[in-house]
Parts: sequence; C-alpha cells; structure tokens
Amino acid sequence: MTNTVAQAIEQAIAALQSATRIVAFSGAGISTDAGIPDFRSRGGLWEDDRLMELMSARGFRHDPAGFYQASLQLMPNLHRAQPTAAHQLLARLETQGKLTAVITQNIDGLHQAAGSRAVYEIHGSFRTGHCLDCRASYQMAAFYEQIERGEIRLPRCARCNAPIKPDVVLFGDLLPFAVWESAVNAVEQCDLLLVTGSSLVVYPAAELPNLALKHGARLVIVNREPTDYDRLAHVVAPGELSDFGRLALTKL
Ligand code: APR
Ligand code: ZN
Repeated sequence: MTNTVAQAIEQAIAALQSATRIVAFSGAGISTDAGIPDFRSRGGLWEDDRLMELMSARGFRHDPAGFYQASLQLMPNLHRAQPTAAHQLLARLETQGKLTAVITQNIDGLHQAAGSRAVYEIHGSFRTGHCLDCRASYQMAAFYEQIERGEIRLPRCARCNAPIKPDVVLFGDLLPFAVWESAVNAVEQCDLLLVTGSSLVVYPAAELPNLALKHGARLVIVNREPTDYDRLAHVVAPGELSDFGRLALTKL
C-alpha cells in the first residue's frame, strides 16, 4: 500500500470517526475479496456479454435454466461466500449507532451475513426467490446446491411447478420501489455517505451520492479505480477495501 493510499485511508477513517449518521453505499467491489467477481474491472462479469443477455428479464423468461447455469458458473461463490473485513466494519458502525443504513447494489447477502440489519438491497437478492406464477416464496440456497450437483436444471415451485425466479433486479426489471424510497430517505438524512467498491456508473443508484451532497453530507469514496464523483468527494481512498476494512476495524 503506497503512502498516499495509507494517508487517504487515515483521512477516510477520521471522517468516519467524526460522523454520526453514516450511510454506506456498496457495490460489487466490496465482495471481490469474498471471491465474487465484480462487473467492470478487467476480467469482470460484463466482459462476457452472454451474461448480459441472460441477466435480463427477457433473458430469464426465454431461458431460465440458462440463467441459473451462467450465474452459478460465473459467480460460483455467490451463495457460499463469507463477509469481508469491509462488510464487518459496516456492521460494527451500525452496532455503535454511527451508521443508519447500508444501501447495496449487491445481491450476495454478505452485509446481513456480517450482522448488518438496516440493509436496502436496491438490486434485490439471490438468496430468496418467488414462483413466476403463484408467487410462492422460497429460500434459494438448496436449489443452487442441487443445480451444482446436476440434480436439477431449473428450480420449480412445489405448489404449481412453474419456474422460480431469484429476487434479483435484472435489466428490464423495476427497482423495488419501497426499498428505493427507504434508501433515498436514509441518504437525505445522512451526514456522510461512504461509497465502498462501486464504479458509480449505473443509474438511478449512482444518483445517491449527488443526493447526499445536495443535503449537505460529506462523500467518502473507497474504490480501486477513479469514479465520476471523485472530484466532489471529501476523501477518495483509491486502494483495496481489504486494507481499508482491516485498518478501520483497528480504529473504530
Ligand atoms: N477494493 C477496492 N475497490 C475494488 C475492489 C477491491 N477489492 N474490487 C473491485 N473494486 C472496484 C472496481 O475498481 C470497480 O470500480 O469496485 C468497482 C466495482 O464496480 P462495478 O464492477 O461496476 O460494480 P457496481 O458498481 O456494483 O455495478 C453496479 O451494475 O451491472 C450492474 O446490477 C449490476 O449492481 C451492478 C451495478
Ligand atoms: Zn407456484
């Protein structure tokens, strides 16, 4: 870790120490250390445009079994990954009463696994699913294990046998409105928005840092690569979230 990155991490930690109503906004970069690839880094998921087609509402309707195959092939750790130090840091800040919410674009459930309770999953979750016809709800982990063992190709409803779709927001799906509303609410009241591991290029999610700034909050960005918001941020720590998480856990 270079000196500049170390200094930036120290400044980011100092900003967290003086904040009292932190909202964290996480992207795929917070889970790469857990073995889940992100989308836009080199070697990221969107390099495989087959996945882009499959990870759409139309793609799922057209080939639901293909959706499951591709998802589990490209994100094999998605349902067995463990939270990282950065996930644990956010859970600790919540326990300390300093963090009011985590807004995540991720579908891996690692914030809850780390102990965070106020988690707004604006792109949904891979952990649960619903029947496309009768809307019965399901926990999905057992299905993923069966697919990996080659026992099934497609999870089907026990009640009506229709395909089950994971509760993820695919391209073409609407964002879960109530969750989005709560996320906007939290951002409007925060005094610091902490961005962890997002390229901040997908809207409307990427509108949230703007909203925070408009309501007078400070913006702190911890991300390996530059983002469009860096010039507006109070602190930018262009390093590894594992370094940030580990260091911050010793000071907060
Ligand atoms: N430490 C710090 N930064 C990291 C790390 C790490 N260990 N790993 C990755 N990053 C950074 C990358 O440099 C990148 O800028 O995290 C960012 C991840 O950006 P994306 O891959 O674009 O992921 P995200 O911002 O979550 O994408 C938003 O796009 O396609 C949709 O639905 C998808 O939710 C996703 C949304
Ligand atoms: Zn059903």
